[in-house]
Amino acid sequence: MKIITVIGARPQFIKAAPVSRVLREKHTELIIHTGQHYDSNMSEIFFEELNIPKPDYYLAVGSGHHGKQTGEMLAKIEEIVLEENPDCLVVYGDTNSTLAGALVAAKLHIPVIHIEAGLRSFNKKMPEEINRIMTDHVSEFLFCPTNTAIENLKNENITHNVFNIGDVMYDAVLYNKKLASEKSNILNEHSLEEKGYHLITIHRAENTDNLENMQNILEAFSKIDDVKVWPIHPRTKHKLESYGIKLEEIPNLKVIDPVGYLDMLTLEASAKKIITDSGGVQKEAYFMKVPCVTVREQTEWVETLEEDANILVGTSVDKILEAVSKDVNPMYREIFGDGHASEKIVELLEK
Ligand code: UD1
Ligand code: UDP
Repeated sequence: MKIITVIGARPQFIKAAPVSRVLREKHTELIIHTGQHYDSNMSEIFFEELNIPKPDYYLAVGSGHHGKQTGEMLAKIEEIVLEENPDCLVVYGDTNSTLAGALVAAKLHIPVIHIEAGLRSFNKKMPEEINRIMTDHVSEFLFCPTNTAIENLKNENITHNVFNIGDVMYDAVLYNKKLASEKSNILNEHSLEEKGYHLITIHRAENTDNLENMQNILEAFSKIDDVKVWPIHPRTKHKLESYGIKLEEIPNLKVIDPVGYLDMLTLEASAKKIITDSGGVQKEAYFMKVPCVTVREQTEWVETLEEDANILVGTSVDKILEAVSKDVNPMYREIFGDGHASEKIVELLEK
């Protein structure tokens, strides 16, 4: 088979790494990198650390409003797909790069393969929700990480070629965990003690683009005495600058640049708690058995909420503080598959 994979944002590089490794054992894969993420610590570092083959096409689309960013991707991806005429096109998750890849292929009657299909927050104000719904509805093969995702698709009458194969991010964590513990020196670099800090990531538009939400989140952080480490996403950094908000005033907060995957796995595994609005980080907290506090009104990863393994708090200061100080001792279950999602995807495609 000749497969085109379209990726462009940080979490997609991580998701593509294990699948690409298995795909290339028997098939030809061409990678299109849209350039949605372009800073070296948002893109290049992942290709290097995870041994992802260099993209065959780099579109350099960069940042911009949704229409312009997605539109540019559409035009450029279409040219390549027409030229390469692949047997199918693979997309991951729910970013603008996902939607662009899916839409191009569907219009050209090339089967779309959606990995991490069926997730729903039921909040159409989120750009990710629009991207997921649209992508699922034009996909030919839908690889879901959970049973909830399968049910979500059923409720939208999508039942053909829908498979629960587990989560490719779990594959990635299992593959890289040991390497991370051997290679990462991030705890020493920032004088962090094992289980002596909380890890923070905040970047979703529903928080960063809403001043009141950001003010609440930061007020909560300023009331948490423990050490907090925050590898800050460029979106959040730029937004806070535009609001004139300075993070230096928050006690015991270490703001650092975005880190590579191996450092991130180490930061996650050694954290006392993880406070996040990221989709991927909620799951990784679960894989690592580290309690998570999710600063959003909804989560697509509802299974993680059982027994308070993940506590959904929105942006209320009191709820954030209560969840961060709550003693929890959840039973972690194998709800994201067995770490062989990538092999299952390739086997099913070969059939
Ligand atoms: C995108 C996804 C989001 C995902 C996130 C993963 C969409 C609509 N959103 O959000 O679902 O959770 O990626 O991280 O696709 N920027 C840089 N350098 C970079 C990349 C971005 O400075 O390398 C800054 C720019 O100011 C840019 C902003 O971040 O305007 C937002 O980037 P964009 O790719 O539009 O969305 P994300 O917030 O990263
Ligand atoms: N991540 C990383 N370095 C960081 C922050 C996150 O490697 O500084 C990884 C994280 O481990 C996870 C993925 O990026 O695998 C999550 O991506 P992100 O939070 O940007 O997006 P989302 O999952 O919310 O779409």
